[in-house]
Amino acid sequence: MAETASFLVSSNSSPTLTQNITTIRTIAESPGLTSIPSTYAFTPAPRDQVVSETQVSLPVIDYSLLTSGTPHQRSKIVHDLGKACQDWGFFLMINHGVPESLVRSMIDGCGGFFDLPEEEKEEYRGNHVSDPIRCGTSFNASVEKVFFWKDFLKILSHPVFHSPSKPAGFSETSLEYSKRAREVTRELLKGISESLGLDPNYIEKALNLEQGLQVIAANFYPPCPQPELAMGMPPHSDHGLLTFLIHNGISGLQVQHKGKWVNINGIPNSILVNIGDHLEILSNGKYRSVLHRAMVNNKATRISIAIAHGPSLDTVVSPAPELLEIEKKAAAYIGIKYKEYLEIHQSNKLDGKCNLDRLRI
Ligand code: OGA
Ligand code: NI
Repeated sequence: MAETASFLVSSNSSPTLTQNITTIRTIAESPGLTSIPSTYAFTPAPRDQVVSETQVSLPVIDYSLLTSGTPHQRSKIVHDLGKACQDWGFFLMINHGVPESLVRSMIDGCGGFFDLPEEEKEEYRGNHVSDPIRCGTSFNASVEKVFFWKDFLKILSHPVFHSPSKPAGFSETSLEYSKRAREVTRELLKGISESLGLDPNYIEKALNLEQGLQVIAANFYPPCPQPELAMGMPPHSDHGLLTFLIHNGISGLQVQHKGKWVNINGIPNSILVNIGDHLEILSNGKYRSVLHRAMVNNKATRISIAIAHGPSLDTVVSPAPELLEIEKKAAAYIGIKYKEYLEIHQSNKLDGKCNLDRLRI
């Protein structure tokens, strides 16, 4: 039993920051832990029919063809990109040029952060969306009835770069990774603009990507003695335009496709890319943000790093008028300032696409 797992609910009644709950790392490392505290057990257990990735094939996008392919190759990859966005909202990107060693250092660096003594992470504990660096457990423990089996570290890396000062070297690594990820994202968004029949620079200009927000979210899921009862992350869609996901090779990610959950394992050196809510709004629902979730296991720690790319904070995102014109359609979403959307996203429970659903007309 987990007698050692205690919950420290602070009496601090600040509206943004709230309960100070023991990290999942501390709970998972409690000696002799054989069952999970009841506050982590979902009923009914989060099991649905899962299709393994071998039964369906996730789209693979060769990024190098976007930047150095022949005109014919480029137009084919733009078409494939559009199809991947439409059919899945999710794809595997290969030949992206981000060095494997950089991806590995990034994962090691985040792992190093989670392994710091709890006191050293204390200064970053918090959960307000405007905190440039914040770490904690679950997603938004102040509104959750059952907690998720994960700790997180969230860092705003653009337009102003931030980084915790530990572990050593992490700041340099995350600066480099965030720059590379932004470059690749902007190229992908050119291809995506084209795939919608818009000018390649349409999204870049309309959403002011020069000042675009970039958020690094690192997730730490230690082994769980009853993985069938716990959840690492519930079904959700991401905010922003495109999220890149890298991980330490331990599986756990599932993506919803045609009503079924599909296990995603990736292929070596690929980056998983998914569409966020704001690309769904901009494309008037032609491209949809995809529901995904993270399961936990009882064998190995999973570390994943999602890096989300959005418009600038003061951009009002609405369906592109030029696209509505091309497609002869009415807007299906009301416009919203990205900053406002983020505040709603962060203050709510993470639950499916509930935030986006409020904007549907
Ligand atoms: C996320 C996310 C999935 C994972 O951080 O938004 O979806 O596998 N992570 O950790
Ligand atoms: Ni996500």
